[in-house]
Formats: sequence, C-alpha cells, structure tokens
Amino acid sequence: MITKNTIDKIFSAVRVEEVVGEYVQLKRAGGNYKGLSPFHDEKTPSFVVSPSKQIWKDFSSGKGGTAVSFLMEIENFTYPEALRYLAKKYGIEIEEDIQQVSETERESRNQRELLYKIHEVANHFFQEQLYQTEEGQNIGLSYFRERRLNDEVLKKFQLGYSPELRNAFTQIAQEKGYDRDLLEKSGLSIFPENIPSGIDRFRERVIFPILSFSGRVLGFGARILKNNIKTAKYLNSPETEIYHKSHVLYGIAQSKQSISRENHCLLVEGYMDVISLHQSGIENVVASSGTALTKEQIKLIKRLTPNVTILFDGDAAGIKASFRSIDLLLEEGMNIKVMLFPDGHDPDSFAKAFPKEYVKKYIAEHAVDFIHFKIEVLQKDAGEDPFKRAELIKEVVKSIAFVPNHLQQEIFIQQVSKLLSVSEQNLFNELQNQKNHLQQHEKTKPPQLKKIETAQLETSIPPLLFLEEKLVELMLKYGDREMFRKKEDKVIKSSVIQEILNHFEEDSYEIQSPLHQKIINEIQKGFAESAFRSGQFFFSLMDEEVSQKVADVLIEPHQVSDWNKFNIYFSTEEEVVDKLVQDIILRHKREYILKIIKDLQLKIQQDPGNDVQYYATILKLSKLKIELDRVLYRIL
Ligand code: UTP
Ligand code: MN
Repeated sequence: MITKNTIDKIFSAVRVEEVVGEYVQLKRAGGNYKGLSPFHDEKTPSFVVSPSKQIWKDFSSGKGGTAVSFLMEIENFTYPEALRYLAKKYGIEIEEDIQQVSETERESRNQRELLYKIHEVANHFFQEQLYQTEEGQNIGLSYFRERRLNDEVLKKFQLGYSPELRNAFTQIAQEKGYDRDLLEKSGLSIFPENIPSGIDRFRERVIFPILSFSGRVLGFGARILKNNIKTAKYLNSPETEIYHKSHVLYGIAQSKQSISRENHCLLVEGYMDVISLHQSGIENVVASSGTALTKEQIKLIKRLTPNVTILFDGDAAGIKASFRSIDLLLEEGMNIKVMLFPDGHDPDSFAKAFPKEYVKKYIAEHAVDFIHFKIEVLQKDAGEDPFKRAELIKEVVKSIAFVPNHLQQEIFIQQVSKLLSVSEQNLFNELQNQKNHLQQHEKTKPPQLKKIETAQLETSIPPLLFLEEKLVELMLKYGDREMFRKKEDKVIKSSVIQEILNHFEEDSYEIQSPLHQKIINEIQKGFAESAFRSGQFFFSLMDEEVSQKVADVLIEPHQVSDWNKFNIYFSTEEEVVDKLVQDIILRHKREYILKIIKDLQLKIQQDPGNDVQYYATILKLSKLKIELDRVLYRIL
C-alpha cells in the first residue's frame, strides 16, 4: 500500500491542468479551462478543468474527478498505477506502508523494486548501444533498417542492441553497484561455474523491451541477427519476480490508448507484427508472443475493449492450437473474430506491403466470426466423412458452450444449424451436453466468488435517497463553512458539516446508499481527527468512486454555458446555504418518518396479531410528521 503521506504529497504537488493538458488542448475560460472532450468526438468544448478546485468534468460523458481519475480513464490505469505515474512525473518518492506487511513481504517488495530498477538500467544501456556505438549502428541499427523500421517506431518501442562482448552489460551493472545476486535473479546475467565474472544473457542481438500495462520494463525479447545459426530465433527473459510471461502482452503500453479509442484490439503473434502495424499507423494491436493466450492476458485487453480480432499468418501451423485461445476469449465474454492473411503473408509483411487504409479495410472485410472460422478449418479435414463431420459439429458447439450470454448462444446455434444443415434441436441437446461437461470441470476447480451484479440504475430516485444525496452534496460543497440557525430566540453557530452530521447521528439514520455511507464515514473520521480541510481533503482520502462524486458536486453544469452572456443570473445557492441545510435536514427527517411508517404498515400486514403496538408507534410518528410539515412551511 502506498502510504497516506505519499498520497497527500502527490495530491498537493499535482496540477490537474498540467496532467490533463498533456492530452487535451485547454483554453482559459474565466477561472476555468475548457477543451474538447478526449472521450468523445465533439465540436463544442464540454470538458472543463478547474485549477482552483483541482478537478475536471466532462459534460459530454458525465465523467469527472481528479488528476488521478483522469489518468485512470484515459490510460486505463488502476488507482495505484495512476499514483505511481504521477509520483514519477512530479519527482515524489513513493513510501509504502510497510508497517502492515510482514518482513518477508517487505523484502520481496524491495527485491521487486530493485528488479524494476535494473531493467530500467538495462533498457537504457541497450538503447545507448544501438545509437551510440559503432557496433550498435553497424549491426543493430542496420538490421532494423533492413527490416524497414523508421526512427520513430524504434524510439516508440525503445528497441536496442546488446553487443558481442560477452559481459558488456554485466560489468557495467556491477560497476554501478548492482550485485551478482540481483543480476542473476533478473535473468540479465548468467554466472556459470567456470566464468565467475558472469556473462550477459543477451549477446549480439537486437532487443525488444517488454513493458507492463503502465509502461514499466519487465523483461526483454532478443532476436538473433544471423539466420543460419541453430539457436532459437528469439531469446526471452526468464520468469522473474516481475516478469510473468503469461501475464503480459507485448505492445500493450504503446497500444492501450488506441485500443480503447477504437474499441477494438488486434491480436497478433510476434514482436515484429506489432511494430510494423504501428509503423503503418494501425496502433490497436498486441502480441501474445507466440504462445496460447491466457486468462490474465485477456483481462488486460478486457480493461480496454471487449472486441478482439485474432490475426493469423496465412500458413499458420498453429491454427488448431489457437482453438483454446478462442474458447478462453469466448468464456471471458469477448466478441471475437478471426482473420487469416493470404498465403505467405504475416501481419508484419502485409503491413509493409500495403498502405494503412487497405490493411484496415482488408481486416474489416476478411475477419470472420469464430463459427465460420472453426468450420472452415475443420471442414478441410472432415470432408464428407460422417464421423468426422459429427466431431466437427461437436467442436463448434463446444465453443458456443463457452459463450456466457444465452441470447448469443441461441443465435450462434441458429447459424450453425443453417451452415451445417443440422436441426437446432439436436444442436441444443449437444450444447446442453457440453455445458454439463464444462460444469463437471468447474466443480473440480477451486470455488470462486460469484460476481455480484451491479444493481440496475433506477430511473426515478426515491425521495429519501434524493434528500440523503442532497445532504451529502451540501457537506462536500460547503464543508466546514459557518452557518447560523435560530433556536428558540437564540442564534446557534455551527458549520454545515457539523449540522448535517449531527442530524445523521441524532436519530441514527440508516444511510440508504453505500457510497453516501462511505463519504459520511470519511467526513466523520476527518472531523474527529480535525484533519478536515475542505476541497482537497476528500480527494486524497477517498477512493475514486468518491472523488468522482465530489467532482460532480463541485463543478456544476451552469459553469460551462455562459449564462451571463444572456443576462441571466441566478440567486446563488451560496446565498441561501443556511436555509437550504435546515430545510433539507427537515425534509429528510420527514421522509425518513414516512419510510418507517410504511415499514410498520407492512409488518402489520404480515403479523396482524401484534398490530396494537405498531399502531401506537405509527400514531406517534404521524404527529411528528405533522409537526415537521408546520416547521417546513414556516421556513419556506
Ligand atoms: P515469429 O517467428 O513470428 O516472430 O514468432 P516475429 O516477431 O514475426 O519475428 P521476425 O519477423 O522473424 O523477426 C512469433 C513470436 O514467438 C516468439 C516471439 O515472441 C515472437 O515474436 N518466439 C518465436 C520466441 O519466443 N522464440 C523463438 O525462438 C521464436
Ligand atoms: Mn515475422
């Protein structure tokens, strides 16, 4: 966990307009900045950044929040990823909450940090070798030129070169103070018994750094330059504490924005395929690095889009092996298509042979759904053999069994029925078989927590919830602003927060929304610790759901349109805060009483024997309600 202290430091250093400004062209508009929404195509700016409140709000999508939540939206970072990114940008050192973790956990964290560091050093070294040494230029750079990669794309993918000298990197790293143990663990150096000074894992190869989602170097792929040598073409980093082959996708850091924007991900096999497509201007592409896809990799894509097209070489030997990947993708609810390039072409050669628009069009026109694809591939083997045809049908239905959406399943079954002239009924029976089969498998797997479906958004908000929300909003907006209230001829001074918190505590209200509860808890805590400072307080303490809410409250829509251009002025809420707070508290009280009465009436229906006691309570509450109505009438 990143410490609270660090989070505070980050939030006080960060300027939201600077962070957003890297993605959106902002123009001054009064106290705020305005720009075109980066999340939508639009012609009139509806994206507002408030430097004084340190928040942004996108009125076209309704999104809003802090610099952190902006990065989470646009880069698809997780919360800690966004914090780390900002810490780096503003030169803040991250402290981790190590009190709460065990000694071993602490050590492994330090170990991981060192591993990240050594990879950064290595990445720098390999690029330096490529550009600044004669060997690098003559061998590495000229290889990339031969493969027709331009400077821009070399830089974008941070490609490098490791020299022939067998311990070039190992020596430099040791001189910089990285010890043998770490070098060995990183997989960058090897220490054979007969060579105690160690040797580099990658020698005389061009280097492809493998980056995490947020752009940290996790490992390397290294391609041999001489084609005649009988070693593997690519040498990759071994599994380390930071590099898990099955958890990364090559190109994700460079492609995530485009994948998210296009709402579509192309999946290829190799390093070169990703890079060449980027060079041609197609940037929504990642590679599984030559292996079958894993669930973790699919999850990475799923953060960005549900739509995937798998691109295969024309002569791909591993097509049948890819069936497992297809099923996994289907199981994750992804919409997948598959495309074969014409014979002799892979994405790399195709992207170099044809212009971007043609490649795009080709993919769009030739990608087929998994059913057509599977049938096509399997039919070649099956021919007219009835046994083999039955196997084929089973194979296709098996994939359909992985599709989580039943409606889609039905549509796929209809398709197969038409394509293969088998009755839908028969196919459904087979589907049921396959599902049972899958469930059997499920049972042997360790149990997993079922996802809780998020409740459907209500179209009309019940008044109690609405008033509760208003109270929370007032606390967020006005914080510890002073307010005055008359009580029996005396004037009582308090603050907006105090007034509302007292109200909530007084009658031990049951808070209706968990989000509101979260906010109230935080405010209470802040109040108790007297750590309360309005504004920033909420952003640094609370999670992103909360900060979105805070932003919504703090930037109101009428700040966007220039009402005063039309000489329309409102009496501002600010002028009537005291009244508003009292009024809404009373309304909330009243609505709560109504709810309790309703609950009691329900109980009477269910348990008519005990009604006398219930009726007495209802009567008391009704009187209270009438009393409240009177007061409310007086205020207004
Ligand atoms: P390819 O041979 O298609 O690689 O293998 P490529 O990226 O297109 O490379 P070029 O065009 O020959 O330069 C696909 C992927 O399989 C992995 C790599 O991740 C590669 O990108 N691979 C392949 C290895 O890890 N080791 C190998 O020996 C070969
Ligand atoms: Mn290739």
